[in-house]
Amino acid sequence: RAKRPAGAPDKKLAREVKKVGVVGAGLMAGQLALLFVRRLKVPVVITDIDQERIDKGVGYIHGEIDKLAAKGRLSPDATNRLKALVTGSLDKSAFGDADFVIEAVFEELSLKQKVFGELEGYVSPEAILATNTSSLSISEMASQLKNPERVVGFHFFNPVAVLPLLEIVRGDKTDDASLATAFSVSKQLKKSSVLVKDAPAFVVNRLLTRFMGEIIAAVDEGTPFDVADRALTPLGLPMSPLVLLQLVGPAVAQHVNETMHAAYPDRFGISENLQRFVKAGKTAVWQQDEQGGQVVDPEVVALWE
Ligand code: 3HC
Repeated sequence: RAKRPAGAPDKKLAREVKKVGVVGAGLMAGQLALLFVRRLKVPVVITDIDQERIDKGVGYIHGEIDKLAAKGRLSPDATNRLKALVTGSLDKSAFGDADFVIEAVFEELSLKQKVFGELEGYVSPEAILATNTSSLSISEMASQLKNPERVVGFHFFNPVAVLPLLEIVRGDKTDDASLATAFSVSKQLKKSSVLVKDAPAFVVNRLLTRFMGEIIAAVDEGTPFDVADRALTPLGLPMSPLVLLQLVGPAVAQHVNETMHAAYPDRFGISENLQRFVKAGKTAVWQQDEQGGQVVDPEVVALWE
C-alpha cells in the first residue's frame, strides 16, 4: 500500500471536488485548467479581467485538448466531453458551486489577497482556495479572509503536464480537512506531492533562484552568456539554466528573486542587468540563427554592456 505523504492528514477528512475554478487565463492558468479537466473530469471554469483574455484562455485549452486527440491520446468522444467541461466566465457567480478554486494571477501579494477576498463573496466557506504562487506567503495571503483555514499553496512546475512534483503549502491557519483535500486532489492529478513549509519561495524556487542568480552574476561579472550557460552541461541537466529562465519566464523569475532578496538580502542579490532585460520585454537569451543553430541574442548582449 502506498504510504501517506509526510505531514498529510488522514485522507478520510478529504472533501470531494466536483467543480474547479481557475482565476487567471494566462499560460500557467491554462496549463492548470487543462490538467484539472484531464484528470478530475469535472467542470472547470476560468475567469480573468476581460472577456478577450478569457476567450484566449479557453481557446488555448481547447487547442491543447485537440493536440492530445491528434496524438491519439483522447478518443473523439473524450475530446468533446473534455472541451465541453471547460468554460469561461467574466461573472464570478459562475464560481458559486466550485469546491476548489486555484488562482494563477500576477505574482503580487495584494492582488492575490484581493482575488481571494472577492472569491469569498461567491464560494461556500468550505471551498478550497488554492494559490499557485511561486514564492509568496500562504499565511499572509489568507490573513484577511473570513475563512483562512481553507487556503492552501499548490505550487506546480513548468511544463505542468510533464513535471510530476507539486509543492503543497500549509498556511498557519490551514485546517486538516483542507490539507487532506489538497493531497487527495494532487493524487487525482497524478502528481507527486510534498508538504513544504510556508517560507519564501518554498523549497524548489529557493534553490533555483540561487542557482539562476549565480549564473546571472557570472555574466554580470563578464563571463559570456554562452560560456556560463554551457558550463553546467556535464551535470546532465534536462535544459541549460538560461533556457530554463525562458521556460519559467524572466518576469516571474525576477519576482521570485525580489521576494528572496527581501527575505535574505545577504544571500540573494538583485542583478540590475536582469531587471533591464525584463523591463525591455525580453523573454529569451538564446535565439535561432539562419542555419537553425542557437546563438545568444545580440540585443541581450548589448543590454548587459
Ligand atoms: N509545455 C507542455 N509540454 C511540453 C513542453 C511545454 N513547454 N515542453 C515539452 N513538453 C512535453 C512534450 O510534448 C513531451 O510530451 P509527450 O512525451 O507527451 O509527447 C514531453 O514534454 C517531453 O518533451 P521532449 O521529448 O520534446 O523534450 P525533453 O525530453 O527535452 O523534455 C522538458 C522537455 C520536460 C521541458 C525538460 O527539458 C525538462 O524537464 N526541463 C526542466 C524543466 C524544469 O526544471 N522546470 C521547473 C521550472 S521551475 C517552475 O516552473 C516554478 C515556477 O514557480 C517558476
